Amino acid sequence: MAILYALVARGSVVLAEFTAASTNASAIAKQLLEKTTGDNDINVSYSQDRYIFHVKRTDGLTVLCMADESAGRRIPFVFLEDMHQRFVRSYGRAVLSALPYAMNDEFSRVLSQQMEYYSNDPNADRINRIRGEMNQAGFQCLKLVFC
Ligand SMILES: *[C@@H]1O[C@H](CO)[C@@H](O)[C@H](O)[C@H]1NC(C)=O
Ligand SMILES: *[C@@H]1O[C@H](CO)[C@@H](O)[C@H](O)[C@H]1NC(C)=O
Repeated sequence: MAILYALVARGSVVLAEFTAASTNASAIAKQLLEKTTGDNDINVSYSQDRYIFHVKRTDGLTVLCMADESAGRRIPFVFLEDMHQRFVRSYGRAVLSALPYAMNDEFSRVLSQQMEYYSNDPNADRINRIRGEMNQAGFQCLKLVFC
C-alpha cells in the first residue's frame, strides 16, 4: 500500500478516518490539523521519517493522507481531491455541523477502498512525471524532499 492513512475533517473536528497499517499516523495527522488552521484553501505536504503527509483544504473541509515517499505527490493529491468530492456529494451541508466521527462508519469504508485503488494505480511509479508536476504552481512544500 502506498497510501496508508486518511482522514476528513472540518477544522480540527475529524469526521471520518481510516488507517491501513499500525502507525502513529492518526496522532501526527491530528497535530497537523492543529498546525494548519485557517479558512484559506491549501495544498501542502509535510515529511515525517519516510512518510509524507499530504493535506488539502477546500472550502473549510480538510482531507489528509499519509503516503510512502515513493508514492510521489500526484497520486496522493488526486486521491485527496476525489475524497473531497465524494464527501461533499454524500453529505452536503451536513458537513457544516456534523459531530466528531459522524461519518466514520460509512466513509471509512470509502477511504479504505479508494486508498487501495490509488495505491495500485499503474501510473504511481512514474517518478519523472510526478517530479515534473510537483514543480507546478499551486503546491507548497514544507520541510521537504522534492521541492
Ligand atoms: C511517530 O513515530 C515515529 C517513529 O516511528 C517518531 O519519530 C515520532 O515522534 C512519532 N510521532 C508521534 C506524534 O508520536
Ligand atoms: C490546490 O490544488 C487544486 C488542484 O488539485 C487547485 O485547483 C487549487 O487551485 C489549489 N489551491 C491552492 C490554494 O493551491
